[in-house]
Amino acid sequence: MSRSRITVVGAGNVGAAAAHLIVSRGLADVVLLDIVQGLAAGKALDIAQARGVYPSASSIIGGTDWNLAADSDIVIITSGLARKPGMSRDDLLMKNTEIVKSVTKQVVRTSPNSIIIVVCNPLDVMTYAAAKVSRFAKNKVIGMAGALDSARFACFIAEALNVDIADIRGVLMGGHGDDMVPLPRFTTVAGIPLTDLIPADKLAAIIDRTRKGGIEIVNLLGSSAYYAPAAGAVKMAEAILTDSKAVMSCCAWCHDEYAIGGAYVGVPVMLGKNGVEKIIELDLNDIEKKELAVSVDHVRKLTAQIDPIL
Ligand code: LAC
Repeated sequence: MSRSRITVVGAGNVGAAAAHLIVSRGLADVVLLDIVQGLAAGKALDIAQARGVYPSASSIIGGTDWNLAADSDIVIITSGLARKPGMSRDDLLMKNTEIVKSVTKQVVRTSPNSIIIVVCNPLDVMTYAAAKVSRFAKNKVIGMAGALDSARFACFIAEALNVDIADIRGVLMGGHGDDMVPLPRFTTVAGIPLTDLIPADKLAAIIDRTRKGGIEIVNLLGSSAYYAPAAGAVKMAEAILTDSKAVMSCCAWCHDEYAIGGAYVGVPVMLGKNGVEKIIELDLNDIEKKELAVSVDHVRKLTAQIDPIL
């Protein structure tokens, strides 16, 4: 059986962390690409040498040449600008649209049968851009945000309750922005609803911190988070490559689901070898529905700004 190939586009912090995680876990062979001469080649060589320490059977090569990426099973797009303090994800819109457009054209040329995982911001809109430019089936273009945001939610819950983070299933929906919709009614700790375990004021503080989880790190680091975002993308790639049918929140194309009527936005999905194989429809209450509508509306407005240039 030939090993799967994942191309990681962008050898910055997120791309390099993702490549390292894939190789250290032996998940697939990796091609790391970047337009900056030497960057992807250097980081790939470093990671290739780390394989002698773990060890890992995955290979990794890096460079600037898109032909290296030929016939990838999955392409993870991390390229694009990241936020600096004082910026919102939406401030990256125009520059990252151009980058995602040109990267996606190369994906279509070199790996027409791949599944695309988008990681750059503003996430939901960039996922839409990759889907529109590629013309791939919508289930094969997916954005990484829910895996990250629900991991942040789980991290803060574990801290507050002093429980094992592995017992927590954090569920959230909506766009990857301050109006994302954490769903405490569907979030469990070892199967017990979160709402039974935590006082309302503590929960409200955790929800607020989750929504602002990205900017908290930007303000500390001076740049965007990367270990957890990379882990989120690799978790999605793993579910796809192993056809595991794992359920997690991802940015997926929703039409009839949740009566969204056609938008890329975060929802719980089942991932397998065909990408998004199912969208799970939760029975939301009126407040949750309203919050989701606000978040979808935000994503739709941003999407409308770039739609004419795609
Ligand atoms: C964050 C960026 C990656 O949420 O959007 O950290």
